[in-house]
Amino acid sequence: MHDFENKLAHSLDHLEDSKVKQAMLYSLCAPAKRLRPQLLYGVLKAYGANESQGDRCAIAIEMIHTYSLIHDDLPCMDNDDLRRGQKTCHKQFDEATALLAGDALLSEAFGYVASATYQNSINNDLASEFVKAIGANGMILGQMIDLLSENVKTDLDTISKIDLLKTGCLFSLALVCGCLIANKKGDIEVWRNIGYKAGLAFQIQDDCLDVISSEEKLGKSISDEKNQKSTFVSELGFEKAQKLYLQYFDEIENDLKKCNIHSEPILKIFQMIKNRDH
Ligand code: IPE
Ligand code: IPE
Ligand code: MG
Ligand code: MG
Ligand code: MG
Repeated sequence: MHDFENKLAHSLDHLEDSKVKQAMLYSLCAPAKRLRPQLLYGVLKAYGANESQGDRCAIAIEMIHTYSLIHDDLPCMDNDDLRRGQKTCHKQFDEATALLAGDALLSEAFGYVASATYQNSINNDLASEFVKAIGANGMILGQMIDLLSENVKTDLDTISKIDLLKTGCLFSLALVCGCLIANKKGDIEVWRNIGYKAGLAFQIQDDCLDVISSEEKLGKSISDEKNQKSTFVSELGFEKAQKLYLQYFDEIENDLKKCNIHSEPILKIFQMIKNRDH
């Protein structure tokens, strides 16, 4: 993560100055945890690979994550006013600009993946992993089912599917990118599965924090109840949901300990996520 904030701050320098560029930078560079980039770099460390090789994909993933948040906050989706400790993009600018800022971050992200110079056919593998993770069989489908499940009685399988897709796919992508860049394609499915589990755990934890934490602490709006979201918390209650995500994080630790990698740094990242309060 050496100097990642600085790299992110300069990641749009090639763009002409405009209102949409201002909106992109406003959301991208706001204070955030950068968990997905940390995980990507964590996999590179686990294999003893050069971390700077991960920069372009880490930036791309953070751009895509930011785009997903800008759109997630729009009035037609979760309709939230606070994100990353500041007004949401559409509140600071306007809806059309927020829509375009999201679209542009997604587009620029692919520019970053395409122009990274890796050996063999890694760029092609990366591009198809990006599309699978964030497209209409991935994160987008998760967001769609999430919206369709507002105000309706939903079962646990559907909620798992929502969380796995809307959040797990991007966590998986970060780990899979690290694995591909480290030239360890044979291990890809191990990381994919750890990523799904991590995303699921992280989303259940997010839903728990939505109940017990404050907007001040989280730096974002609390809105699951207002939006009548179907979550593990709404379905199982807070205590069972909390137990479940802690159990998933324990499983991840065990999975990592079984891998033939230098696991200490990535274990630390997962421990930090498990104990987070925002
Ligand atoms: C928020 O993700 C969206 C969810 C998947 C719950 P983060 O909690 O990683 O948000 P930032 O990037 O730190 O703002
Ligand atoms: C967001 O889930 C997932 C994506 C943006 C893909 P949430 O709607 O629960 O995230 P927050 O709570 O707004 O960060
Ligand atoms: Mg949402
Ligand atoms: Mg939301
Ligand atoms: Mg949430």
